[in-house]
Amino acid sequence: MRAVVVTEYGGPEVLTLRDVPEPEPGPGEVSLTVAFAGVNFTDVRNRVGDGLGVVPFIPGVEVAGTVRQVGPGVEGLRPGQQVAALTRGHGYAEVVTAAAGLTVPLPENLIGKPASGSMFVTMQLGLFLLRQVARVLPGETVLLHGAAGGVGTVIGQLARHFGLRPLYGTVSDLAKAQFARQNGFAQVYEYGRFDTAVLAATGGRGVDVVLDPVGGQIRARSFEVLAPFGRLVTYSNISREPEVVPDANWMRARCVGYAGFSGGQLPQRAPELIRPSLLEATELIGAGVIDTGVTSVFPLARAADAHRQFEQRTAVGKFILAVS
Ligand SMILES: NC(=O)c1ccc[n+]([C@@H]2O[C@H](COP(=O)([O-])OP(=O)(O)OC[C@H]3O[C@@H](n4cnc5c(N)ncnc54)[C@H](OP(=O)(O)O)[C@@H]3O)[C@@H](O)[C@H]2O)c1
Repeated sequence: MRAVVVTEYGGPEVLTLRDVPEPEPGPGEVSLTVAFAGVNFTDVRNRVGDGLGVVPFIPGVEVAGTVRQVGPGVEGLRPGQQVAALTRGHGYAEVVTAAAGLTVPLPENLIGKPASGSMFVTMQLGLFLLRQVARVLPGETVLLHGAAGGVGTVIGQLARHFGLRPLYGTVSDLAKAQFARQNGFAQVYEYGRFDTAVLAATGGRGVDVVLDPVGGQIRARSFEVLAPFGRLVTYSNISREPEVVPDANWMRARCVGYAGFSGGQLPQRAPELIRPSLLEATELIGAGVIDTGVTSVFPLARAADAHRQFEQRTAVGKFILAVS
């Protein structure tokens, strides 16, 4: 089968199409013929050697396709069934294996649609961030960095769906602001002035929650705009600047909290939490309540171009690879 393989860490050019043996499902697993694979920033981090991927590896953590084979002990899934799955890597390939527990039947209206390859990573993050980690209450104000990306797109819509206040967001270029506003953001600012703008918009009080994938100086400045009882949640360090860890004395004095989330590591710690979030994501997307915001579809052979555009920060929304 064809797959995109990373044999050495580096730029997008290390994503090369190869012929590799097809994987077989083990106990509790299924194999899928992949139709669509989502492109996520975690794939970029793995490619540059800053993630969990150990060379040689096939990137890709979310796919949609057809069940090919069912491994021992699997019930409720059968060959030919249309499904979406969260995988531990290996998604940029014509065939992938996935845990049966992380494989969910596709609603009819999503079969054959590129959006079916983007059902889980950003949605699971959004559902956990808003409800379990930041525990956002109606009336609270939320600032999210990277508002026009794949994560911002679904979190803006989820906030709207849950009846929360419209979010504040940041973008590197205000040309992206309109896209973010369509997806539930009230105000969108550039990074250079977000802190003064957010303080002005909240009458000097600050926000109740900051959702931050950027890290570094942006995170350091974000702590300064937290209102009393505010929470800052880190879910990435996309800037790759040194991690900012607030001093406990400072947090006590300001009456604020600091929390984290990793969808990649949670399955090891609490696997039982994952499947309900995948089922909920499928239901919300299938019902048309949430649109994952697919803006570009690349053939598998052009995975490097997808990564290049992703890293240039010019695009908005979600990127998908069309595999077979
Ligand atoms: N913890 C988890 O479970 C989890 C799950 C999914 C995603 N994430 C993280 O969430 C972030 C967004 O993920 P995604 O896949 O949906 O990507 P994305 O949001 O589609 O794209 C990344 C966004 O980050 C912004 N950004 C800020 N600083 C950047 C930098 N130095 N380089 C590149 N982009 C930068 C870009 O927008 P601007 O150019 O407008 O700033 C872009 O919109 C990533 O950091 C990812 O690792 C974490």
